[in-house]
Amino acid sequence: MTKINWPALKQAAKQATLQAYAPYSHFPVGVAVLASSGKIYIGCNVESASYGATVCAERNAIAAAVVAGEREFKALLVYTPQTDLTPPCGICRQVIAEFFLPSTPVASCNHLEQQQTWTLAELLPAAFTPKHLDNSEKIGVIKA
Ligand code: THU
Repeated sequence: MTKINWPALKQAAKQATLQAYAPYSHFPVGVAVLASSGKIYIGCNVESASYGATVCAERNAIAAAVVAGEREFKALLVYTPQTDLTPPCGICRQVIAEFFLPSTPVASCNHLEQQQTWTLAELLPAAFTPKHLDNSEKIGVIKA
């Protein structure tokens, strides 16, 4: 089991928060992901005047890692300068499940430096993952 440097992830996620583009919600979010290579990648939320086009910090951090060639991850940490601890939204949980094992830790940290950690399986039980497509029997559509 790789030792996870949570303070380094926290620092990176906090730094990412400073770049958040959140003129509508005023809710900045920063995320750091630890790839299996040992490298840390960051993302912030990027909002849009067409609100539904907003992309969360989690998905931007994962995208930054994927474009760098990463496909496997050891941990994810969300930082929000709030008192409440922010867990990843439902869409982000699905994207996390694309690349992370169910046992991978997903943490949230607030401005009081408190941290809560879940496994991905706790956040998204019975996840639909790439293995369901691999195992599909390609039965196709039965026409009436
Ligand atoms: N947001 C994230 O970036 N990650 C989360 O885990 C929760 C929500 C963003 C989306 C939007 O820009 C703002 O926070 C308010 O929903």
